[in-house]
Amino acid sequence: MPLLGVNLDHVATIRQARLTNEPDPIHAAVLAEIGGADSITVHLREDRRHIQDRDVRLLREISRVGLNLEMAVSDEITKIALSLLPHQVTLVPERRAELTTEGGLDVLTHFARIQQCADQLQGVGIAVSLFIDPNLAQIEAAKKLGVTAIELHTGAYADAQTPKDTEIEFNKLREAGQCAVAQGLRLNMGHGLTYRNVRRIAEIQGVHELNIGHSIVSQAVLVGFERAVREMKLLVTF
Ligand code: PXP
Repeated sequence: MPLLGVNLDHVATIRQARLTNEPDPIHAAVLAEIGGADSITVHLREDRRHIQDRDVRLLREISRVGLNLEMAVSDEITKIALSLLPHQVTLVPERRAELTTEGGLDVLTHFARIQQCADQLQGVGIAVSLFIDPNLAQIEAAKKLGVTAIELHTGAYADAQTPKDTEIEFNKLREAGQCAVAQGLRLNMGHGLTYRNVRRIAEIQGVHELNIGHSIVSQAVLVGFERAVREMKLLVTF
């Protein structure tokens, strides 16, 4: 059975909308752990649009489950990772204009640059995972790099508009997953997974960890909304 990595980026997105101190991703991490999260994931983006340096530092200190740091192949963020020593780093492509991480890392094209970054991280004992599309050539390149894990990008599966396309994307993930496991790579998956589409992905043989963020934060807003309004109502109607 796969482990659940809970991505807290969008708790920080709500906070950054007001540049205030709530909701605090650190509080969310504690609740996520109580809820059964097997690891906490955050993406420290170069533009710091949601998660801040202080969040990563504190999460590294307080988290009792592993901290998976998503980051671009960047010297600045690599330095931070080397000093904080998260349990895992997931290298992702990053473009400033994108809404979220829109595609997998192109390991074939950026092999040397990724190798240099992965070697530095692995040199201090951090497990490195590469976020890639379900493509066999990318998996082979990841294997050549000697990283511990890959995370298959499930976005195309999640975004598929017809049952036929969903099936095509699901099969790509299953086959790429089998190939990764056969090569001895740890298999993670994530992006766009929701309460409706996650089950089939969780059932794929050999999946080690699923990383899920937006859908959990969205659900939390809704399942907690009624209680939050009641609590405010009590304060204003005394
Ligand atoms: N995995 C990776 C590598 C990601 O970049 C993201 C988004 O930050 C996720 C998983 C989680 O995606 P979502 O928020 O759609 O669940």
